[in-house]
Amino acid sequence: MTDALVQAALDARQNAHALYSHFWVGAAIESEDGRIFGGCNIENATYGLTVCAERVALWKAMSEGARQFRRIAVIADTETLTPPCGACRQLLWEFCGDIEVVLANVHGRSETMRLKDLFPRPFDDSYL
Ligand code: THU
Repeated sequence: MTDALVQAALDARQNAHALYSHFWVGAAIESEDGRIFGGCNIENATYGLTVCAERVALWKAMSEGARQFRRIAVIADTETLTPPCGACRQLLWEFCGDIEVVLANVHGRSETMRLKDLFPRPFDDSYL
């Protein structure tokens, strides 16, 4: 049975807007109260203003009032499972802490890890 969070990420990937890279990504984040928010990558002609699927999911969740998170799933069509980019890792660390990260592909493969292992020695507000 597919994990509901991975399924939500797969559903969100249907809406990916990746006209430039043709690399379609879906994400879904689960808040502590059990709500699931999907996101997809959205590209635009500047390239640089592209937003990753993970950040869309996170901003959707936060804009709906969620502040505590359990897990995030990321899904793409790659054999080697696609991890969040560096910028997303930084933001996930700040807003979600050591969240569980489920990496998945469209062929049903997945791997679960912790953000601290993907993003060791982060910069955060403890340095300020
Ligand atoms: N992308 C994501 O949305 N999430 C990732 O984890 C990796 C990269 C997007 C950004 C861009 O739209 C495309 O994938 C290629 O980098």
